[in-house]
Amino acid sequence: MFTIARYEDASHRRGIGRVLEENGWERRYVAGQLAAIDDLTADGRPGVRGNVLVAVPEEPESPARGPVCGFVSVEFREWNRLGQLHGLAVAPGSKRRGVASALVLAAEEFVRDLSGRGLYADTPETNEAARHFYRALGYGLAYAMPDYYDDGLDGVTYLKLFSG
Ligand SMILES: CC(C)(COP(=O)(O)OP(=O)(O)OC[C@H]1O[C@@H](n2cnc3c(N)ncnc32)[C@H](O)[C@@H]1OP(=O)(O)O)[C@@H](O)C(=O)NCCC(=O)NCCS
Repeated sequence: MFTIARYEDASHRRGIGRVLEENGWERRYVAGQLAAIDDLTADGRPGVRGNVLVAVPEEPESPARGPVCGFVSVEFREWNRLGQLHGLAVAPGSKRRGVASALVLAAEEFVRDLSGRGLYADTPETNEAARHFYRALGYGLAYAMPDYYDDGLDGVTYLKLFSG
């Protein structure tokens, strides 16, 4: 079991780093995600609202494992009233238990509360788990961008409009 909480402190930041490392992310990608989270949780960009949510296990396996088993980060832009999911990951031992679903539903609620129209998310074309996940949550394939992630690695963007 887990609860969804607002990102608060350095222990959450360390926990998110660990979740990404456990998923096999290269160090440069982990650093990029943490930098984006620092940016999204800092106030002060006009017309943009950021939010980071963490999933906290109710019974952590051990204190050393840390307080986070998943996270989502979202950026809402006022000009088009859309949210963009920037980061989403769940610790390998906590997958297929509804953690990401609960995180994304909470991110959707954040966008709805700001009178947003919907959300979108990019993922590598090869990320079958993420593609299944977004479809399961009612997101539709909006477009593909050739070579978005790297030479030969296309990006695909999934979109959910609340009106649709
Ligand atoms: C994609 C990811 C976030 C899903 O997290 P999760 O907590 O396991 O997802 P949920 O348990 O909420 O899954 C909800 C539904 O999505 C679909 N789904 C999730 N993972 C899936 C997989 N590996 N294969 C097929 N369908 C999957 C299923 O329909 C699932 O419902 P079910 O378990 O009842 O069949 C997780 O696998 C992950 O962290 N991957 C690595 C990071 C990543 O790829 N992030 C995505 C953005 S780039």
